[in-house]
Amino acid sequence: MQSALASQVPAELRERFNAARNVLVLTGAGVSAESGVPTFRGGGNSAVWKGMPFDEISSARMVERDLPAVWEWFDYRRGILQEIAPNAAHVAIARWQHKFSGFSLVTQNVDGLHQKAGSREVIEVHGSIWRARCIACHERVGIPEHGSRPLDCNNCGDRLRPDVVLFGEMLPEGAFELAADKASECELCLVVGTSALVYPAASLPEIARAGGAYLCEVNPERTPLSDFCDVVLTGKAGELLPLLEDGPRL
Ligand code: OAD
Repeated sequence: MQSALASQVPAELRERFNAARNVLVLTGAGVSAESGVPTFRGGGNSAVWKGMPFDEISSARMVERDLPAVWEWFDYRRGILQEIAPNAAHVAIARWQHKFSGFSLVTQNVDGLHQKAGSREVIEVHGSIWRARCIACHERVGIPEHGSRPLDCNNCGDRLRPDVVLFGEMLPEGAFELAADKASECELCLVVGTSALVYPAASLPEIARAGGAYLCEVNPERTPLSDFCDVVLTGKAGELLPLLEDGPRL
């Protein structure tokens, strides 16, 4: 007998998933929710750091005004993430890079959990909390999970800032263009755990659909994208994504 969750996965989606060669997965904060990382919207209060709302401490303005305070907030977040493990959704997505001949993972997340689960060549449209960037020459440097964070740029000696897209900033050059190219080529596009409100990332499913892709959303809540999708799987990514794969039906 099929579980209520498994019965949500229509036969057409399973068939397309098994036959597809070119697949794109777009993820947002919801894919990390089951690992214990809070989302930005929905399900409670938004983050506040020392009395400052998230969108103020994580803003371009704050980098100019008080870079050490911005680092304090990002150091705190990295400290929490060190203890956090990928969940079944990250793990399933990491398996898929070996299943499809053309596979792209585009994430709005900066937490590095896709990579921790084994995903490679992740297109990070909002940057990574595990990298710093020079404010002058833009040289990037990795931040080790354990051990101290580099303080100054190795190349020019100027100050480093988090290599993350902050409120009021543009996306890193090239990342969105690459994601848009991949979206226009895919046959199947899975949109997982994003409120689909923040552009331009939210336009990727539209680009995929315009290129003829079958669009599937995985989210416990409806989003502005839901009505536009071929199929909506309502529930948690960690429970639903593994059900798309071959194997015994529950
Ligand atoms: P949001 O916090 O806006 O949305 C998270 C979505 O995940 C919501 O639609 C939830 O319903 C859904 N969700 C929650 N738990 C889930 C689960 N277990 N499985 C699947 N979905 C679940 O996060 P994003 O859409 O990623 O940008 O936000 C986009 C961008 O807004 C972020 O990257 C960030 C923020 O401004 C930057 O920091 C530049």
